[in-house]
Amino acid sequence: MKLTLEEKQSLEDIYQDFLHNEKIQQMKEVPMHRGSNCYVHSFKVAKLAIKRAIRHKKGNLKQILIASILHDYYLYDWRVEKDKRKKHLSRHPSIAAENAYKDFFIDERIQRIIKAHMWPVNFRTFPNTKEARIVTLADKTIAFKEAMCSKKYKAKRMALYYQSIQQLFL
Ligand SMILES: [Fe+2]
Ligand SMILES: [Fe+2]
Repeated sequence: MKLTLEEKQSLEDIYQDFLHNEKIQQMKEVPMHRGSNCYVHSFKVAKLAIKRAIRHKKGNLKQILIASILHDYYLYDWRVEKDKRKKHLSRHPSIAAENAYKDFFIDERIQRIIKAHMWPVNFRTFPNTKEARIVTLADKTIAFKEAMCSKKYKAKRMALYYQSIQQLFL
């Protein structure tokens, strides 16, 4: 799929709005995958999901972009909040979708993509659209890479990661 300059620009504008949004900055405080944080993780997922969607000519790019940026918008540290620890894996997609709806008024299709991103952990919320499958696979790819990386290595590279997410199309 070849995007026109206008199409690219409109996706980049959405991406930049989220990247600099005050509420989204809260995700920097949420640790993730040994030394990373939710903010870096989510924008990495967004970049990969959009890259794959364009390469495979699949899905509604705007939905994929917004859902991937907000898929982990649950805003708590499950390691600290004991009551959330046990069910974090299965519950955080619904919490993220709810928070995203409250703060960004996302539509139902985007909420459904967010809720399905932990499939097969949440076995009944199957990613039944192209968009949902792209987001859930991009999330798994990035999560796997982050989990495989040592804390020390990540700490050294955090500045680079921040640099790499500054633009959707780099
Ligand atoms: Fe997640
Ligand atoms: Fe994630």
